[in-house]
Amino acid sequence: MKTIVANFKMNPSSEKEAINLFQIYQKNFKKFNHLNLIIAPPFVYLNKAKNFNFSFAAQNCFYKNEGAYTGEISPLMLKNLGVKYVIIGHSERRQLGETDELINKKIQAVLDNNLIPILCIGETKEERIDGKKEEILKNQLEKDLNLEDDLIKKSEILIAYEPVWAIGTGNFCNPEEANLTHQFIKDFMNSHFLDLNYKLLYGGSVDSQNIKSFLDQSEIDGVLVGGASIKKEELVKILEIANSY
Ligand code: PGA
Repeated sequence: MKTIVANFKMNPSSEKEAINLFQIYQKNFKKFNHLNLIIAPPFVYLNKAKNFNFSFAAQNCFYKNEGAYTGEISPLMLKNLGVKYVIIGHSERRQLGETDELINKKIQAVLDNNLIPILCIGETKEERIDGKKEEILKNQLEKDLNLEDDLIKKSEILIAYEPVWAIGTGNFCNPEEANLTHQFIKDFMNSHFLDLNYKLLYGGSVDSQNIKSFLDQSEIDGVLVGGASIKKEELVKILEIANSY
């Protein structure tokens, strides 16, 4: 069974459209339910999302449970709302200034609240050209998952390998290369975080045309879909294909 994360990003612009998308997911998830479907809408629609019967993710959160942090949303609030997953460290947030230190605090807070983080890691185009991909991934994993042993042992996490150059560009990673990168991440996780229960997703310009070539790979447990996840015809095809694994 594969995992599909639908990251709506900062879309759609009205609640009505968001509910319409949830309804389309719901209808198709009834037909194609042999998959772990996680929808990540903007915060303001999460309260509506909880009325549907698939899992929901927030796209970010703060690292404290309450207090004087204007504009932030806490993991405890998300938990109390019935949210199960939180995307942390998406490259679009790293580009806005999120550091690995901040991401690590958020991962810790999410796990402390018994939520499941979807940690995004990946190299930029320049880092790839410079031959630094593996070094970057190792560095992000080491820093982002710098957690107490006890927390590691009892935790579950999804890791999304998302090459930054492939996100929102239509220029997706070659699936065989993504598989080798996943193998690299698995080897690193097994030598550094043996007790952590994790699954590995690929993200970056996944659509109905290329999803099969990713899900066919031995080390790819699922995909994180951005742009295509809010296109009605695309999302139906994506669910249908993922359902067949
Ligand atoms: P994309 O986004 O599918 O539009 O490339 C992926 C993501 O949300 O990281």
